[in-house]
Amino acid sequence: MVIRSLFTSTRSRPSCQTNLCNCSTRTKRPDHDSVKVDDSGTRAEVGTPTEEAATRAIVLLPVVRQSEEDKREPEGRLAEAVGLADAIALDVVDARVIPVRNPRPATLFGTGVVDDVTAVARAANAELIIIDHPLTPVQQRNLEKAWGAKVLDRTALILEIFGERAQTAEGALQVEHAHLTYQRSRLVRSWTHLERQRGGFGFLGGPGETQIEADRRQIAERIARVEKALEDVRRTRSLAREQRRRNNQPVVALVGYTNAGKSTLFNRLAGDHVESRDLLFATLDPTLRKLELPHGRTAILSDTVGFISHLPTSLVAAFRATLEEVTLADLVVHVRDISHEETEAQADDVLGTLAEIGVEPGQREVLEVWNKADRLDDAVRKQRELAAQAQGAVLVSAETGEGIPALLIAIEDRLARRATVREATIRATDGALLAWLYRNTEVLERSDEGETVHLTLRIPEARLSDTLARLGEPVPEPQTPSQPYLP
Ligand code: GTP
Repeated sequence: MVIRSLFTSTRSRPSCQTNLCNCSTRTKRPDHDSVKVDDSGTRAEVGTPTEEAATRAIVLLPVVRQSEEDKREPEGRLAEAVGLADAIALDVVDARVIPVRNPRPATLFGTGVVDDVTAVARAANAELIIIDHPLTPVQQRNLEKAWGAKVLDRTALILEIFGERAQTAEGALQVEHAHLTYQRSRLVRSWTHLERQRGGFGFLGGPGETQIEADRRQIAERIARVEKALEDVRRTRSLAREQRRRNNQPVVALVGYTNAGKSTLFNRLAGDHVESRDLLFATLDPTLRKLELPHGRTAILSDTVGFISHLPTSLVAAFRATLEEVTLADLVVHVRDISHEETEAQADDVLGTLAEIGVEPGQREVLEVWNKADRLDDAVRKQRELAAQAQGAVLVSAETGEGIPALLIAIEDRLARRATVREATIRATDGALLAWLYRNTEVLERSDEGETVHLTLRIPEARLSDTLARLGEPVPEPQTPSQPYLP
């Protein structure tokens, strides 16, 4: 989840700014699909790098049985973790699923596993070990000591990806905020040799642990500065939103699991050229475009963040300003990769994240789009078509264009469904109110009788409270209270 500014369409991958790799000597990335777990459930093969000197990394997926609520298969989760490492072009030399029956407070893993990984890390000459699970600072430190390598947990890895993908000032600010909050909570150790190479933004390759640990006040001050800058961003956003409201433009927000095909669909719908590629979190900034609907109406289409499982709450909070585009949208379009074997689990993750930001399906208008239909074989496609019909979802292929006309009609229908038709009588002398109603609602009928004007109005849901208030009628409780920026 990174952030491009509103109304920009640049989406090219930025030159690598990660603290974890040496850009000039990147390896070819392994193919995610080549990750396999063998019968013992512990070993994975990954692609072979073709050059040397990118950061050599091992990816470990602890499966903590007692607390494991993840419905997804370890193979899929391990492949996703390797994909995350791949997202910042690490050279993944080994990847394993590790069952953990009794999580140890000091090291998470038992001593046998710790020793095994030490041997593997030495043999593979690994500099970095990624644990796809939360680690306490103590566990991280102890494992680093035991393995003689830098250790990152899932949150830190996602932060690294976000750091690389941030393309705008706003994106950089939100990522910096998330990093600083993470640092404050755990006194992250820096990766000293890279720190020397890169100097300091204050992430993993920042000014150094001693400085960070010695000066918490500095972090607090920086957080305060970043928050202030983000407040300015938020103000600018709400001005832009107000402008759109004035233009009576409903907003349709695309959300979905990372790589579900949001940007491809965005391009298809809005005829834009947001770059899409098989790259996790390529979309980090919300992008807004005009969407032409079949019967001549228009809406604003917003391509936002890619979600991922176990997205830490602190990260969601850090991106709240951006996610407001979603919370305040008239219609949320949930794009799913229906060809993915974990599609249900991915959908649950997205719904969980939406709930965290106050978007509850049932209370809000959410339309499911089942993307990548072209990847389904005939039998599965038939099943999906029936299921989509039954569930009010739309089966499409953003790649081939199949199903797009039906999707546009569904979007139009859903937006119309949200509008309320009301009668109103106002004084003819109240020109300001009349003008406001013309700007913000659709006037379906008007009859003037002397001093009074009778109107039939179609009021979009987003404008309902305002309109009722101006007409002096009782205003219902808002469904989605505006969220404070910080948790
Ligand atoms: P994030 O930026 O990670 O959130 O990804 P995204 O959801 O914006 O996905 P994106 O549009 O970048 O697509 C991810 C990959 O899926 C790309 O390689 C696309 O070409 C591919 N893709 C998207 N839609 C389709 C589709 O309908 N069919 C097929 N076969 N591939 C698709």
